[in-house]
Amino acid sequence: MKHQSTYVPKTGVERWLDRRLPIVRLAVDSFGDYPVPKNLNYWWTFGGILMVFLVIQIVTGVVLAMHYTPHASMAFASVEHIMRDVNYGWLFRYVHANGASFFFLAVYIHMFRGLFYGSYKEPREVSWILGVVIFLLMMATAFMGYVLPWGQMSFWGATVITNILAAVPVVGESIQQLLWGGPSVGNPTLNRFFSLHYLLPFAIFGVVILHVWAFHVSGNNNPTGVPVKDVKKDTLPFTPYYTVKDGFAIAVYLTVFAVFVFFMPNVLGHPDNSIEANPLSTPAHIVPEWYFLPFYAILRAITFNIGPIDSKLGGVIAMFGSIGVLFILPWLDTSKVRSMRYRPTAQLWFFLFVACCIGLGYLGSQPAEGVYVVWAQILTAYYFAFFLIILPLLGIIEKPKPLPKSINEAVLKKSGAAPALQPAE
Ligand code: HEM
Repeated sequence: MKHQSTYVPKTGVERWLDRRLPIVRLAVDSFGDYPVPKNLNYWWTFGGILMVFLVIQIVTGVVLAMHYTPHASMAFASVEHIMRDVNYGWLFRYVHANGASFFFLAVYIHMFRGLFYGSYKEPREVSWILGVVIFLLMMATAFMGYVLPWGQMSFWGATVITNILAAVPVVGESIQQLLWGGPSVGNPTLNRFFSLHYLLPFAIFGVVILHVWAFHVSGNNNPTGVPVKDVKKDTLPFTPYYTVKDGFAIAVYLTVFAVFVFFMPNVLGHPDNSIEANPLSTPAHIVPEWYFLPFYAILRAITFNIGPIDSKLGGVIAMFGSIGVLFILPWLDTSKVRSMRYRPTAQLWFFLFVACCIGLGYLGSQPAEGVYVVWAQILTAYYFAFFLIILPLLGIIEKPKPLPKSINEAVLKKSGAAPALQPAE
């Protein structure tokens, strides 16, 4: 949201810098008195939580890389060395491994928040699209990271996922060869995955800057979805109001995270990954990390050929399509009302969609056979129907509840404040 800069450089050094590189001004304008809708709830703290986790992952990852060896014959042993010999190596590794899970948990909450409150709608389409780009980069990074300890799941997970690429016509096999660097997953694969796993988080960092920039231009959405009409009445300065609120949420989230790191650091992992990779022995069930399970279920749900598209390619298209559809979401939802708080029917379909994603996650963890496949097909159909049929139609036929005239009105109504108690102007 454009607002008049209030930064006044106090010292000579600040004035000198401000005329050459107004970086302090930028920071104060963006995170100091930047006006934020005064009704943001705790779902809005996940953006800040995500930033903290991005930094945690980069810092712990850089330290791990100092002791890790990206070679097929040494990777597994080097991770054991980190766990046993390196000072606090176990801590860095457990923070990094569980950090990935908590990063994904936060990003899913952040995305469902955006979905519920219509944060993807005009004028925040670019924030949303950049978010989807971040999500894709996060998935690529996590996938390659999981290969690095060179355990059984690392090896076989990488084999399954790189094999599906071969289904893509014309370019599929070339991409697969390029990733492998040889005839199958092996040492060159591990080497290039390490290189990319180190690189991509910095790319994510860059896209996050653009993401934050984009919603600073449009201003934050808020639980009512009603735009800011009067900066004085509808907003509060980011500092101290939201620095404190975000800080509190970050502390709570980190506490839960610490419980995992210190008391159950392996529950989110797979025991097979404590066995060194063995290309001659395939584990009974190859399952990815929990945060990939819904997409894994979609991939395996297509068990039939669709015209000239065989089932394998169909699965790949469905899996990538399930993320691709998010890019065009701002134009699929036809409703003029942003927040689902005022869209009772859309709300029902939304909660069904959340249940559908959780259900797909469960099915992704089960063997692809019998009733599990049937359910995965039903839920995959709902996943796509939600975006391609339900949201476009609902916007036209649904009758939304009346919207508050302003953010201020919604806040005062909720708190039951009499008009006389309104803040003085
Ligand atoms: C590293 C990952 C990410 C970081 C660090 C991040 C950071 C942030 C921050 C700090 C905010 C403002 C506070 C808030 O609304 O929570 C925000 C807003 C937003 N984010 Fe993200 N984000 C990330 C990923 C994503 C993803 C994956 C999506 C969607 C696909 C997304 C969509 C949005 C949207 C639409 C907004 C505007 C929200 C509003 O004001 O309602 N973000 N993000």
